[in-house]
Amino acid sequence: MHNASYPALRLRRTRASAWSRALHAETVLTPADLIWPLFVAEGEGVEQPISTMPGVSRWSVDKMVDRAREARDLGIPCLALFPNTPEHLRTDDGAEALNAGNLMCRAIRAIKDAVPEVGVLTDVALDPYTAHGHDGLIDAAGYVLNDPTKDVLVQQALNQARAGADIIAPSDMMDGRVAAIRAALEGEGFANVQIMAYAAKYASAFYGPFRDAVGSRGRLQGDKKTYQMNPANAEEALREVALDLAEGADTVMVKPGLPYLDIIRRVKERFEVPVFAYAVSGEYAMIEAAAAAGAGDRDGLVMESLMSLKRAGCSGVLTYHAPLAARLLGR
Ligand code: PBG
Repeated sequence: MHNASYPALRLRRTRASAWSRALHAETVLTPADLIWPLFVAEGEGVEQPISTMPGVSRWSVDKMVDRAREARDLGIPCLALFPNTPEHLRTDDGAEALNAGNLMCRAIRAIKDAVPEVGVLTDVALDPYTAHGHDGLIDAAGYVLNDPTKDVLVQQALNQARAGADIIAPSDMMDGRVAAIRAALEGEGFANVQIMAYAAKYASAFYGPFRDAVGSRGRLQGDKKTYQMNPANAEEALREVALDLAEGADTVMVKPGLPYLDIIRRVKERFEVPVFAYAVSGEYAMIEAAAAAGAGDRDGLVMESLMSLKRAGCSGVLTYHAPLAARLLGR
């Protein structure tokens, strides 16, 4: 019975000291909740800072291995990799995505060779490989074709799995791709390769810096509204999640993160499955801009944002702030 009232009930009582606040914390964040997204560049010994994401760089494969060691030492269990494909390899059909020796596959192999205890998540979508910047194959009118794209994504996923990817994460929003990828993985003996579906992925204004990082921003013709979701919709997100789970997704993702806490909560309550959020590049940039302008304390903004995502129902969060957050948590 909750029938006590003031003054017998003083909710400030348990907040009065640090030990008591720690004891009464309802949500706990640990480095094990973090997935660190990283951008791979060609070359050796290369670090390329990304101007719209201050503090984030593209790394060549050799340096990426150092990032994997850093993650391991910080207790971050998993990396998410995205390639910045050289200009001359971007084509209308994104064929480089299927090349077993592409930048992505070389990065996966190098990491799994050197630091096998760190998980590697790979994004399935064609945008880092296409000349037009879309996630799939387009027709003459620029419309992204669902079924032909799905067939290519299956090959892309297999290419990544053969290179050693642990989690396949389709971010393309084509209908039916999870089932097709699951069947193909089973067919090649990749029974333990997981699928984390970008199930509720919105057509968001928060992806700008990411498109700089993978080099697709200037190229993108039009927008992605015919495949990514309308930010106005929540019921549709539940249908997307239901579909991806029925097709064999192990876990589902909501993306972006902070503007979609309601979606995370509804998905968690409805389906009772592991839900992940992607705190996307624009969210990172907003925090960095606020900190740089003296409008807020970076550490505080980062930890509160991550805690909010966890409290909303996330099992984990993809965040560019992963190393910072892990360091803060490790203190
Ligand atoms: C590509 C993809 C995008 C992101 C992850 N995978 C961009 C997009 O859909 O245009 C965005 C991540 C971020 O902004 O940090 N399909």
